[in-house]
Amino acid sequence: MTAILQAIGTAVPPQIVTNDDLAARLDTSDEWVRTRTGIAQRHVAEAGTSTSDLAVEAGAEALKSSGGEVDVVIVATTTPDRICPSTAPEVASRLGLGTVAAFDVNAVCAGFVYALATAAGLIETGAAERALVVGAETMTRIVDPEDRGTAVLFGDGAGAVVLGRGHADQPGAVGPFDLGSDGDRADLLCVPAGGARRPLDQAARDERANYLHMDGREVYRQAVKRMSDSSRALLARAELDVDDIDCFIGHQANARILDAVGDRLGIAPERRISNVARYGNTSAASIPLAMSDAGVEPGKRVLLTAFGAGMTWGSALLTWPELAAS
Ligand code: ACO
Repeated sequence: MTAILQAIGTAVPPQIVTNDDLAARLDTSDEWVRTRTGIAQRHVAEAGTSTSDLAVEAGAEALKSSGGEVDVVIVATTTPDRICPSTAPEVASRLGLGTVAAFDVNAVCAGFVYALATAAGLIETGAAERALVVGAETMTRIVDPEDRGTAVLFGDGAGAVVLGRGHADQPGAVGPFDLGSDGDRADLLCVPAGGARRPLDQAARDERANYLHMDGREVYRQAVKRMSDSSRALLARAELDVDDIDCFIGHQANARILDAVGDRLGIAPERRISNVARYGNTSAASIPLAMSDAGVEPGKRVLLTAFGAGMTWGSALLTWPELAAS
C-alpha cells in the first residue's frame, strides 16, 4: 500500500511585516533583503498566537476538505508551544480527533518532509489508515529581533496535509523518499541555550544565546549542496530523469538558494515554485505552504526537497491528485 495525498490546508497570521518595516528598526534595507533573499514580506504571529493555533487552523482546513477521521497526527515544528510536552497531542485534541496517536517531529526546515516520510511509513505498514501531517512554526519567537542577519529571513505560518491509503499508480501517491543528516555541522544554525546542554539563565540571555545563531554563508553552501544531492539521489532511486519532474517545490529559505538548486538540477525556471517573497522562511511550514500555492495539474509529478538545521535534509516524490476544495 502507498500513502495518498488527499487534502491541503494552510494558515498564516494576519500581521504582515515588510522589509521597510524591519528597516525602520534595523540597519538593513528593502533593496538588500530583496536582492540577497528574494523576500519582500513575512507574516508574523501576534503576541498570544502560538504554533499550535496555526497548526489547528491549517489542520482544520485540510480535514474539512478531505472529510473523515485520521488515526495519527504528526506536527513538524522547531518552535513547539512548550519544550514539554510535544505540540501534536494538543493539536489533535483541539481538532476533535480524540485520543489518536500524536507526536512531533523536529528536523527544523526539513521537518515536513521527515514527517511526511514517517506518516507514509505508518500507512504503508498498516499501522495507520489516514494521517494528518502539519508543518507549523512561529520562527519569529526564536529569531533575535536585533540581529539583522537572521531577523529578515524568517516568518510564521502552517501547512497541513491529509494522507490516506491507496496504490502506487494512483494520483496522490507519495514516495519514495530520501532523508539524511550531518550532526557534525549542528553548530552552523542553532539556538545555543534553553535546552538540556545549556539551560536558560541570565548569562545566556545576556549573550542572546536564547536566539537562533547562524553562519549564513556556510548554511547557504550546505543548503544548495544537500538539496541538490538529495534530489539527485531520489531521482536515481526512482529511476527517473530530471525531465520527468513537472514541478519542483524546494524549501522556501531564499530565492537564490532555490535558483541555485534548480540550476544545478537542470529544472526549467517555469517548473519551480516560489512564494518566499510573501512568506519568508517558515521552516517546517514552507513546503506545505508552497504546495498549496503550486497550482499543479492532477497527474503531474512533483519533487519536494528541503534542508534545515541539524543539518537535516529530505526529498520526496509525489503524483499530484485531484484535490477537493476546502
Ligand atoms: N541588511 C544589510 N546588511 C546585512 C544584513 C541585512 N539584513 N545581513 C547581513 N548584512 C551584511 C553583513 O553584515 C555583511 O557586512 P560586512 O561585509 O560589512 O561584514 C554583508 O551584509 C554581507 O554579508 P554576507 O553574509 O556575505 O551576505 P550574503 O550575500 O552571504 O547573504 C544571507 C547573507 C542572505 C544570510 C546568505 O548567506 C544566506 O542566504 N544564507 C542562508 C541563510 C538561510 O537560508 N538560512 C536558513 C536555511 S536552513 C533553514 O531554513 C533552517
